[in-house]
Amino acid sequence: MSLENVTHIDNVRLSDGGDAVVIIDQSLLPNETKYLTLSGREELFEAIHTLRVRGAPAIGVFAAYAACVLAGQTRETSYEAFYRRFSADKAYLDSSRPTAVNLRKALDYMDDIVRANAGRPVPKILEAMKSGALKLHQENMEMSQAISENGMELIKDGDGILTHCNAGPLGTFHYGTGLGTLFLARERGMTLHAYCDETRPLLQGARLTTYELQSAGIDCTLICDNMASIVMKEGKINAVFVGCDRVAANGDTANKIGTSGVAILARHYGIPFYVFCPSSTIDFSCETGDDIKIELRDPSEIKEKFFIKPMALPEVKCYNPAFDVTDHALITAIVTEKGICRESYTESLAMFKQPAHP
Ligand code: MRU
Repeated sequence: MSLENVTHIDNVRLSDGGDAVVIIDQSLLPNETKYLTLSGREELFEAIHTLRVRGAPAIGVFAAYAACVLAGQTRETSYEAFYRRFSADKAYLDSSRPTAVNLRKALDYMDDIVRANAGRPVPKILEAMKSGALKLHQENMEMSQAISENGMELIKDGDGILTHCNAGPLGTFHYGTGLGTLFLARERGMTLHAYCDETRPLLQGARLTTYELQSAGIDCTLICDNMASIVMKEGKINAVFVGCDRVAANGDTANKIGTSGVAILARHYGIPFYVFCPSSTIDFSCETGDDIKIELRDPSEIKEKFFIKPMALPEVKCYNPAFDVTDHALITAIVTEKGICRESYTESLAMFKQPAHP
């Protein structure tokens, strides 16, 4: 794959007939590139829940398309019955994962479209839903490009960047959010060195981030999560770049489990820690990170998932939170498509209070 192929990867789309969502199954990468065509209610839910489609922006657009596909299957002809069915599908899809706000916001956005078309014939509502979902997809691509561009002022040639989880084209769109600036820099002939945390337990850093970076010709080195401190101490890291799943009004930020630990290390070593996200990832209904729901996942992901033999006694107790919250005081800046926000986040993020699309 070339740089161009990576930044234009077809990770989520509506099928040509509009009756299914087509995704790359991210749970199989990098060993197998398999496209799935999904249209069943349970399989759409399962794709989000099992991280076949993952990454906050990608989940949001996927959910918007899934809502269109399910709405297209309805036999209801009255608006009231159609809306009841839509609401049930919306609630079901929304329950697939709790932390990334993009999922809920994308479904609310589709809800607004349906209600704005109340009383119109169902085929017209379906048309409006489809064009709304396509618009959302397009906007997400444009936002990724703008976020990546805004990140360019934070780097210089030769920098070492530490990454955690995956915030590249697979989990977002186009360039990505947390990784977007690396792809843009490469496009412009700069040389950066990425150090990628493997990101236990589901290994998004090892499986997806190094796959994307290496395919695009960006120098990258895979490290275990517990090696972040030594590479920082050895002076290899000039900045930490991460994406995020939800930002509270005060700047507290939920991202993949382990992110807050990386931020604490970065503060210890005096390294800037940057969060990249579309402004729609800010959730003003959460005052602080304490209001963000952290997803708890199945213990088998820790004990068995990527190992030929179990890696722990079957009866050992496990705690498997999928995300953690990084305190706003540890975040040097939050990079959005509209600009770079710094402390006080309560003030700098407030400019995004007007409704934006997910
Ligand atoms: O559990 P995941 O793989 O969906 O978690 C994703 C992340 O934590 C990403 O960093 C985040 O969604 C930002 S952009 C893809």
